[in-house]
Amino acid sequence: MRYELCASQDLPQGKSRAMEAGGKKLVVYHLSDGFYATQARCTHMFASLGKGKIVEDKCVQCPLHRARFDIRTGEVSEWANFPPGVQLLNVVRGEKALETWPVTEEDGHLFVEM
Ligand code: FES
Repeated sequence: MRYELCASQDLPQGKSRAMEAGGKKLVVYHLSDGFYATQARCTHMFASLGKGKIVEDKCVQCPLHRARFDIRTGEVSEWANFPPGVQLLNVVRGEKALETWPVTEEDGHLFVEM
């Protein structure tokens, strides 16, 4: 299914925004080569990636324990490492990629395919 998200001008390059589509919460990102969408919750301990930061036009860094995910693929590029000691938790909360969906731009509007 294809869902309309917002006007593309409402999401400037280098920014991200939490949204909902098809009953799912997602985060939409505007990188240098286009728009991308990932699930909204971190796979480590479910923190909101809508409050995360975009690093080097490539990754979203979780605001809680600083795991980093490749926005384009959802793959883990660095697992939770903050604060020191969180690694103990990682024994039961192992690396898991984010779900991603393709985003297209058409007539100044963004659409996600889910
Ligand atoms: S909740 Fe995201 S890294 Fe722990």
